[in-house]
Amino acid sequence: MNDVASNADVRTLAEVLQLAAADRDRVDRLIGRRLASDVVLVNQIGKHIVGGGGKRLRPLLHLLCARAAGYRGNDHIQLAAVIEFIHTATLLHDDVVDESSRRRGQKTAHQIWGNAASVLVGDFLYSRSFQLMVEIDRLDVMRILADTTNTIAEGEVLQLMQMGNADLNVADYFRVISDKTACLFAASARLGGVLAELDAAACERLAEFGLLLGQAFQIADDVLDYRADDKELGKNIGDDLAEGKVTLPLILALERAEPAEQRHLREIIESGGSQNMDQVQRILHETQALESALGQAQELAAAAAEKLRILPITPERRAMEVLARYAVDRSL
Ligand code: IPE
Ligand code: IPE
Ligand code: MG
Ligand code: MG
Repeated sequence: MNDVASNADVRTLAEVLQLAAADRDRVDRLIGRRLASDVVLVNQIGKHIVGGGGKRLRPLLHLLCARAAGYRGNDHIQLAAVIEFIHTATLLHDDVVDESSRRRGQKTAHQIWGNAASVLVGDFLYSRSFQLMVEIDRLDVMRILADTTNTIAEGEVLQLMQMGNADLNVADYFRVISDKTACLFAASARLGGVLAELDAAACERLAEFGLLLGQAFQIADDVLDYRADDKELGKNIGDDLAEGKVTLPLILALERAEPAEQRHLREIIESGGSQNMDQVQRILHETQALESALGQAQELAAAAAEKLRILPITPERRAMEVLARYAVDRSL
C-alpha cells in the first residue's frame, strides 16, 4: 500500500483512494463473497444495498489506520468488511425507521421489498458481521465491536425519543450523534491500532480521532440535509425536518432567532412535516445557522487530525488527515 504514494504527499480524496486501492479491492471482493446466502431475498436485498455503492468511508479509515499504525497482516481486510456490514445493516434499519425513500442514489430497500424484509435482511447483515468477526478469534476485537453495535442501537433509540423535541440542547445532540454515528468511526480507527498492537494510550488517541471525525461527519451530513443537491447526496434532502428530527442547524437557529421567529420554528418542529421548509430555510439563513454548524464541524475535524500526532508521518497518516477534512468538505 506504500508503493504508490510513498514519495508523494496525499492531498485529495482521489489520492487517498489510490493509496488504499489494493486493500480496498480485497475488501470489496470479500464483501461480495460473504454477502451470499441460499435465501434468494437475502441475496436480492443485500446486492441492492451493497451494489448501490456507498463511500465505504469507515472501512477505508480502518485500512489506513491499521497501515499507519504499522500493521502488516491481513485481518484488517476482514475487519473492514465487518465494519461495512455493520454500517449497512444500520442503514437498512434506519431507512425503515426514518421512512426514507432514497439511499445511495436509488430507491430504499423497504420501498421495494417492504419493511419486514428490510429489517430482517438488516439482521442478516448484522449477524453475518458477527460470523466474520468471530473468525478473527480475538476477544479484544469482539469486545470493541460488541460495545459499538450496542451503542449505535442506543443512539438510534435515544434519537427516536427526541423526535419533535424543540428543547433538544447541544449536549443531547452530541450524545445522539456520538452514539449513532461517531462511535463506529471511533471503533474503525481504534481497531487499526489494536491490530498493530499499539499500546492502550495510542489506541485511545486513535479512537478519539475517529470519534471527532465521526461527529464532524454527522454534523456536515445534517447541514447537507438542508442544502445539498439530492443527486450529490444520493438520498432525499429535507428528511430531518419532515420527521421532526432536531439537528445542530435547528438548535443554533432556535438559539439565535428573534422571539416571534423562535416560536414559529418551535411550532414547525413540533408539528413535523416538510410543508414549512421555505420558512425554515429563511430562518436558517437569517441566523447563519448552517454556516456556524459547518464551522463547528471544521473545528472538530481539525481537532481530529491533531490526535494523529502519535503516529509517524507516512502517506497513510496524511491520508487520514485528508479524510478528516473530507468528512466536512465532500468536494475534495
Ligand atoms: C450515512 O453514512 C449515515 C450517516 C451517518 C450520515 P454514509 O454517508 O457514510 O453512507 P454511505 O455508506 O456512503 O452510503
Ligand atoms: C444514520 O443517521 C445513522 C445510522 C445509520 C446509525 P441518519 O438517519 O441521520 O442518516 P441518513 O441521513 O439516513 O443517512
Ligand atoms: Mg436516516
Ligand atoms: Mg436516522
